[in-house]
Amino acid sequence: MDVTIETRSAVQSAADVLALPLFELDPARWRLAPRFAAIDAAAGGRIAQAVRAGDFKGKRGETLLVHPAEALAAKRLLLIGLGAEGSLSAETLRDTAALAVRETLSRRGAKLALVAPRSRRVRPPALAQALAEGAVLGAYRFDRYRTKKKDETPLAQVALLFERGADARTARPAAAAGALLAGYQNLARDLSNEPPNALPPAALAREAEKAGRAAGVKVRVLAPAELSRRGFGALLAVSQGSANPPRLIVLEHGARPRGAKKGARRPTICLVGKGVCFDSGGLSLKPSTSMVTMKHDMSGGAAVIAAVCAAAKLRLPLHLVGVVGAVENMPSGTAYRPDDILTSLSGQTIEISNTDAEGRLVLADALHYARTEFEPDAIVDLATLTGACSVALGKWAAAVLGNHERLAERMVAAGEAAGERYWRLPLWDVHREFMRGGVADLKQTGGRDGGTITASAFLSHFVGDTPWIHLDIASVANTEKGSALQPAGATGFGVRSLLELLRGWSGFKL
Ligand code: BES
Ligand code: MN
Ligand code: ZN
Repeated sequence: MDVTIETRSAVQSAADVLALPLFELDPARWRLAPRFAAIDAAAGGRIAQAVRAGDFKGKRGETLLVHPAEALAAKRLLLIGLGAEGSLSAETLRDTAALAVRETLSRRGAKLALVAPRSRRVRPPALAQALAEGAVLGAYRFDRYRTKKKDETPLAQVALLFERGADARTARPAAAAGALLAGYQNLARDLSNEPPNALPPAALAREAEKAGRAAGVKVRVLAPAELSRRGFGALLAVSQGSANPPRLIVLEHGARPRGAKKGARRPTICLVGKGVCFDSGGLSLKPSTSMVTMKHDMSGGAAVIAAVCAAAKLRLPLHLVGVVGAVENMPSGTAYRPDDILTSLSGQTIEISNTDAEGRLVLADALHYARTEFEPDAIVDLATLTGACSVALGKWAAAVLGNHERLAERMVAAGEAAGERYWRLPLWDVHREFMRGGVADLKQTGGRDGGTITASAFLSHFVGDTPWIHLDIASVANTEKGSALQPAGATGFGVRSLLELLRGWSGFKL
C-alpha cells in the first residue's frame, strides 16, 4: 500500500472513498468551515444536510457514508468525527485514518483520499505521520491461514490531501516515516500472530534474517552448539525440554564506533528481546486456559527485530544491536526442573523455583551477552515477562523499570508521543537484595507480591552498571478486543515508541 501526499483539491480527487474528518460542532449553530464549502457544494449540499438532520455530529470516531454523485470526483464521501478541536491528538488521527481504511476495504475500494485536518495543536508533519501510521496499521489483518479470503480488494493507495504546498512539503517525509514505522509494527504483529507450530526458534531466526536482508541489517544466528560452547546455561536450560532447538538472534545496524570515548562518539545501543516461541510453563505447567495466547510470548523479540530493521531503513546515526533469545518452554523428560541450579553465562548461579519463570532466564544470558560483546552505552529490553504486570496496570500500559532514571523518563515520553503508554514501577536495592540467597547466588523468583518488580530485580543482576531499562509488555502485547486500528491478536507494541526514543537519541545525554 502506498501512502502519498497530494495537493489536489478534494473535489477533484478521484477515489473510491473520499474521507472528510470534521471537528465536533454544535448542530444548532452549524456552519461548515469555508474551506469545505466547495466539497459540500460539489456533494449537493449533503454534508450540511446530514448535520442539520442530526445524522452526523462530529463526535470522535463517528462515521457517516454519503453518496454524493454530482460534481465530486470520488465515488463516496465518508464523514469522520474528530471530536472537540481542542483535544485533537495523534491517536485520534491514527484512529481516523484506520476507520477510513476499514470503510474503504469493506466497500472493496482500492483508493482512499483523506482530507488532512487543519489544527494548531498538531502541525502538518506530526499530522501526516499519524495519519500514515493509522492507515497502514488499519489495513493490517492476519488472514494468511484463512483458505477463503474475505472479499476485499487490497487497498492500493491512500492519498493524504493537503491544500497548501508548504504543508505538503513538510508532510511528505513525515508520512513516509509513519508508513515505514507502521509497516514494521505490522511485521512485529505478523511474527507474534504466527502459530507456534509454524514459528519455532529456528523459523523466527530465518524470519529475522529475511527482514534483516531487506533492511540492510547484519544478522548473525547462534545455534545450540555455539551457545553451549560459550556457556549460555540459563537460556539452554529453558530450551532443553523442547524438541525445537534454541537460537540466539543478533541483528546489527551501523558500525561499531571506534576511537573517542563512550559518550563522545556515536552511541551503541542494545535492544534485547524475549523470544519464547511458546510458553507452556514447562514442568510447572500452566493451566490450559492460561496457555492459550502463549504463542505471543516472543512479542518482545518480534518488536526488537522490527525496530532494528526500521532504524536501519531510516538510517539512524547509531550503532544499534538487537539480541533475541529464541526458545520454546516445554515439559518433557529432558526438561529443566524446579530445584535445579543453573550456571548462567555471567557465571552467577540461579536456583530454579518455577519453570514458568523462564523469560528472565533467557534474558539473563541475552543481557549478559549484549553487555559484554558490544559494551553498549545503554540497553533496553522488552519482554512479556510477568502476568503480574497486568495485575498492576491492566491492559492500559506497559511497565518501565531499570537502573537509570532519565532513560526511563525518556521512554515514558517516547511512548506518549507514539501513543503507547508506559508507566514506571520502582526498582530499588531492597528489591535487588531480595533476589539473593538460598543455596545459589540468585533466586529465580520472588513470590507473588510485586512480581513485575522482583522479575526486573533479577534481571538487574545481569546488566552490571550499564544504563538499562526493562519494558514489561505482558499486559499489552496482545489484545482480545479489536478496533479499526488494532485487530484482536498481536499489537506490535513497542516498535513505534522504541523508534521515537532512538530518533531523539542524539538530542539528549544520558
Ligand atoms: N510469559 C509469562 C508471562 C505472561 C503471563 C505473559 C500472562 C502474558 C500473559 C511468563 O513466562 C510467566 O509465566 N511468568 C510467571 C512468573 C511466575 C512463575 C513467577 C507469571 O507471571 O505467572
Ligand atoms: Mn512462563
Ligand atoms: Zn513466558
